Amino acid sequence: MESILEIRELRVGKDHDGHFQAILDNVNFEVKQGETLAIVGESGCGKSMTALSIMGLLPRAIQIASGKVIFGGKDLAGLSRKEIDQVRGKDIAMIFQEPMTSLNPSFTIGNQLSEVLKIHTALQPNERKERVLELLSQVGIPDPAGKFKSYPHELSGGMRQRVMIAMALACNPKMLIADEPTTALDVTIQAQVLNLLSEIQSQYQMAVMLITHDLGVVAETCQRVIVMYAGQVIEEASVEDLFEQPMHPYTIGLMQSAPRLGVAKEKLHVIEGTVPDIRDMPTGCRFHPRCESATDLCKEKEPQLEERGHGRRVRCWHTA
Ligand SMILES: Nc1ncnc2c1ncn2[C@@H]1O[C@H](COP(=O)(O)OP(=O)(O)OP(=O)(O)O)[C@@H](O)[C@H]1O
Ligand SMILES: [Mg+2]
Repeated sequence: MESILEIRELRVGKDHDGHFQAILDNVNFEVKQGETLAIVGESGCGKSMTALSIMGLLPRAIQIASGKVIFGGKDLAGLSRKEIDQVRGKDIAMIFQEPMTSLNPSFTIGNQLSEVLKIHTALQPNERKERVLELLSQVGIPDPAGKFKSYPHELSGGMRQRVMIAMALACNPKMLIADEPTTALDVTIQAQVLNLLSEIQSQYQMAVMLITHDLGVVAETCQRVIVMYAGQVIEEASVEDLFEQPMHPYTIGLMQSAPRLGVAKEKLHVIEGTVPDIRDMPTGCRFHPRCESATDLCKEKEPQLEERGHGRRVRCWHTA
């Protein structure tokens, strides 16, 4: 399958007293056309920063130092703000964890959705309204005409997330990035929103990059997985391979710390320690201080992300 997005040797970070502190260190992966790719890893490992780098939405102090973000043959990392505005929202759209932060509280839902269409399409005002109503009904919002005039605070969290999805879909993007799109929602609403995302994905043949903490969600909705640790990709595999035989000790730890269905009151495994701070990265393998199989080699020399066949890549000295 052809790839729609290629991230090559991406280094992102900030300047600290003249020293560059890397938040993402040589991140390398691709998203294939029409697939759902999961990005998993503990809090602080760089999942959101990866998404924001693609979208050109990094916080002010943080920059892309080197590397490429190739989308539709263009390197987005090299585009000006104005050029990236053309791509963002139109070809690649993103939905965030907390919809309240991305919806403007002082404009109606209809107003905000129409605005996206105004920026990116040549539709006339009446055509825009028609399209907004169509989008609202497509994402399962009851009474679209009524909700058109509602303000974000008048909707429930699940409804607001649906509005965000409608906004993301407004221009038929080729790729959707969803950063923890359901963690702020309760379990039943979570399932509804995820189902909605997969329906839309197959209908539009869109590529989806789904950032999530939830391995259950990965198993159900994704085809491939990228596991990140401390700003690096440490494993890449198909969902089947990853669940059947996780290779990196960190991935194995993540799997063991996820609750399993049908296993009663199992004591969950804990990966001892925490993700290292970017100001104080361990030498060698970044995971070695927490790894039960670490040897001197792991402490001294950094492993590279190596091909292991079957589309799998692993960054570890001790997995053959
Ligand atoms: N605004 C910011 N300024 C400086 N550093 C930041 C900023 N936001 C995040 N970071 C740093 O970037 C690193 C990666 O953060 P990121 O938000 O990408 O993590 P994440 O994997 O998305 O975590 P989570 O699962 O909690 O959302 C963290 O070490 C964090 O300290
Ligand atoms: Mg995040």
